Amino acid sequence: MDKYIKEVLFTKEQIEEKCKELGKWVDSEYKDSNELVLVGVLSGVVPFFAELMKNITIMHEIDFLKISSYEGTESNGMPTMTRDLNRSIDGKDVLIVEDIVDTGRTLKALKSVLAKRNANSVKVLSLLDKPEGRVVEFEADKIGWTVPNHFVVGFGFDYNEKLRNLPYIGIFNQDYLDKI
Ligand code: IMP
Ligand code: MG
Repeated sequence: MDKYIKEVLFTKEQIEEKCKELGKWVDSEYKDSNELVLVGVLSGVVPFFAELMKNITIMHEIDFLKISSYEGTESNGMPTMTRDLNRSIDGKDVLIVEDIVDTGRTLKALKSVLAKRNANSVKVLSLLDKPEGRVVEFEADKIGWTVPNHFVVGFGFDYNEKLRNLPYIGIFNQDYLDKI
């Protein structure tokens, strides 16, 4: 599958190391929290979410929702929630866990939806940030890495729902645009 990758950005080992660091951040950020819930944004976040959880030592719940606005490598601009949380977040500390912030539309919309549900707090942790892609103002509370404005795949990141299973993160080889 390596032919679909133009350049590896982060290896499996670098990702594991980063998830340890981010797990420690969650531990310290929420050390005084009574009820922490990690909210994963499906589907891209799955590998990151699992790796992150292993490195969090404080008690927490997990829940997931699905919100999407992407087709191929282009955002169509309208994030829609296609699957909601299973439980109430009333009074809880919510940490939204996402794979990447690009235009910022998804997380801006999501944060405002969840903010109306009486959570004690709502913060965002994203593995990657592509600040050059931003079209609305949005900043996550914590970022793993900042990346240049390229389309990335692997470790959850997809091109047309494929390549999520690569254990590393790399830049998509545009020779395969519309070919997979
Ligand atoms: P935003 O609303 O543009 O910030 O979209 C964020 C969502 O777009 C992420 O959750 C990803 O699912 C997807 N996305 C943005 N950039 C990439 C990329 O480089 N590769 C794969 N998916 C991406
Ligand atoms: Mg996503």
